[in-house]
Amino acid sequence: MTLDQHLLQILIDTYPDTVSFESFSRQYTCSKEDFLEASRILKNKKYPVSYTNSSLYLTLPLISKSKLSRLTQHTKTHHPFIVKEAIPSTNTFALNSFSSFEEGSVILAHHQTKGKGRLGRQWSATMGKSIALSLVLRPTIDSQSLPLFTQLTAAALCQALKAYGDTQIKWPNDIVLNGKKVAGILIESQFQENRLEGLVIGIGINTHLEPDDFEDSLLHKATSLKIETKQTVDPNVIIADFLIEFDQFYTDWLETRQTFPFISLCKKESALLGKEIHVYSPNEPPKTATVKDINEKGELIVHYQGHAQLTPLQSLDFSVRNSQNGYI
Ligand code: BTN
Repeated sequence: MTLDQHLLQILIDTYPDTVSFESFSRQYTCSKEDFLEASRILKNKKYPVSYTNSSLYLTLPLISKSKLSRLTQHTKTHHPFIVKEAIPSTNTFALNSFSSFEEGSVILAHHQTKGKGRLGRQWSATMGKSIALSLVLRPTIDSQSLPLFTQLTAAALCQALKAYGDTQIKWPNDIVLNGKKVAGILIESQFQENRLEGLVIGIGINTHLEPDDFEDSLLHKATSLKIETKQTVDPNVIIADFLIEFDQFYTDWLETRQTFPFISLCKKESALLGKEIHVYSPNEPPKTATVKDINEKGELIVHYQGHAQLTPLQSLDFSVRNSQNGYI
């Protein structure tokens, strides 16, 4: 590890306290110049570091491998953590080296520079202000069951974020806090010679983004935990809470293949049930429908205006929006 990486590690584990040159140089023999240079490198990489009286400190809590391991020591599945400084996308990183990651591995990045969203969209994230997480799984399932995982993940994430306010699920993959999107889910699959080898469950959570961090066009529909709670939140606690909730649903489902526990939560917390929406599918004009249900396969059951029958929508093919042009 380089000196700046050591310094970052100590800053993360010392947060919110300061790290002085004296204490740092006791552990890593270096000159004051080396210490200052390491601080400059962290600043240039846009880590949230500040100085006070020749000491350094982080202005935000960052992902800490040791804290995560401590917080998840009793989870139902073992979760090895891989924390990267800056990578284009944690999902792409996980997919590119899929076979090298064991089941339950969690890939995280302090800064995700080219995050991917659903339906080919981008997912932007500012250094240290959002969580970019990819969970590697190898369940024995056929590809028909894939949409179920979005609902299972949404239920777990919605539960984990309840501590920060009124969370809801906007089918299929958005978590909404006080009416605005705070987190999104992108599940990608890994195939080998037509055989489903496994899944990468990607999650992005806006933790400390400020209004200035959002493009103007997103301000009315996106938010962060910081904006809503006016508090600094600990990403490690959020990640651990999510994994605890996820493991519960996932291990139960592996044993019983019953979807009721998480689908019933998706229905209870749905931001869409009973609402009128516009349904967007590729190459077709939007259609107006009323949301009637979410079935046991995780499909959204809608009633299109003028149709006698109800129609199930699969999450892979559709996006939906409030018909009043609002977000939900
Ligand atoms: C969406 O709402 O459209 C889904 C957003 C998913 C973003 C996460 S961040 C971690 C993981 N890596 C990616 O490139 N995307 C997902």
